[in-house]
Amino acid sequence: MLVRSIIVSFFLFALVKTSYAESPSPQTDQELWVTFGSDIAPFLNEKFGARIESFKSFDEITMARVEEDMIPWMSLLIHREFQRCGGFIVHDDFTSAQESLLDYSSRDFAKSAIFVDYDIRQRRLVERGFEKLQEERITQFIKTFSEFHNRYYTSETGVQAMHWLKNEWEQIVAHRSDVDVYFWEHDNWPQPSVILRIEGAVNPQEKIVVGGHADSIAGWFGQSRSRAPGADDNASGIGTTTEIIRAISEMNFRPARTLYFMAYAAEEVGLRGSREIANQMAAEDKQILGVLQLDMTNYNGSDWDMVMMSDFTNSEQNRFLGALLDAYQPEVSWGYDRCGYACSDHASWHQAGFPASMPFETRTRERNPHIHTARDTIERSGGSSHHAMNFARLGLSYVLELSAQD
Ligand code: BES
Ligand code: ZN
Repeated sequence: MLVRSIIVSFFLFALVKTSYAESPSPQTDQELWVTFGSDIAPFLNEKFGARIESFKSFDEITMARVEEDMIPWMSLLIHREFQRCGGFIVHDDFTSAQESLLDYSSRDFAKSAIFVDYDIRQRRLVERGFEKLQEERITQFIKTFSEFHNRYYTSETGVQAMHWLKNEWEQIVAHRSDVDVYFWEHDNWPQPSVILRIEGAVNPQEKIVVGGHADSIAGWFGQSRSRAPGADDNASGIGTTTEIIRAISEMNFRPARTLYFMAYAAEEVGLRGSREIANQMAAEDKQILGVLQLDMTNYNGSDWDMVMMSDFTNSEQNRFLGALLDAYQPEVSWGYDRCGYACSDHASWHQAGFPASMPFETRTRERNPHIHTARDTIERSGGSSHHAMNFARLGLSYVLELSAQD
């Protein structure tokens, strides 16, 4: 084991040395900005110093300019040294990286100050909604979505999966005239995000967002060709979101506020899809009252059934979600934990100034060991969607309480 580790370390060291420190950088590469926890800045500087420009730190967050081909290497090394899966956010330009740095450091989340009434008073409606939820449909969704070879943001199957999803959502809401399903196209890569919008009947300018990432990833290199079923990460979250849409649609629920359901592209490569959407919504001054992130809902690996991530989230909304669990699913045990870094799309929304939350399937240290590999299949999450159903009920109660007409 020790020998293997020494060999692997030497191999990595040699590769990093030759590929990065000494070889000239390819001219065609897009230059990107990344932000990451300041605790890993010295390490990255040591490994990639010659090719990283403009290190700039503000408290806990550091930004730097890198080249696109460095990103898998950074993931690999951070994963090895810090046991974080990614641990950094990729930005398409300097301004967005700097905004993220300043937003985070000033902790000035002006838009989070929007008043939201978190009273719980829709018991009849919520219980009627729960009757519509069907575990078997989530299971079927996860299986079908996992069959795409991968859902990587630059691969053909990554684009096809989004077309399939859009079509699936369109069919669910085909009978409604107050619902739109559309692609959000991204300029810098082929995979679009998919959005379903139900226009609010009373206060359409007030909006609620529920979603997760639809892309998947596996391996360190050649990721556009790797098999990446992404059943738990994150067909489970999109299957859960889809089941919430189905329930709402079958109830013929007409929300007072506008509801958005979103399947983000390109999360696995630095939260890039959600950040584009969240930043644009912030730039347009959209009134988003709450964002619920569903990323990994079906692997039951802890004695707690659900964990509220306390970092990069809004604590008042987190408390509201806990209260919803206590009111509507008292059998579900839950507590707080942290990712320790911007681990999913809730961070994009949080950094754009909106109240976001991420209820998660396990404690962080008991995370599903199969994610980001070809082994992330529904069988490795127990073969059913029993655990995901807790999240479908939570998400449905969240939407109904925040958008019922009376
Ligand atoms: N679903 C994961 C995030 C996650 C994994 C949260 C395990 C908690 C426990 C997400 O898809 C992911 O892989 N995020 C990246 C970070 C991102 C900035 C590339 C990660 O954690 O490496
Ligand atoms: Zn992931």
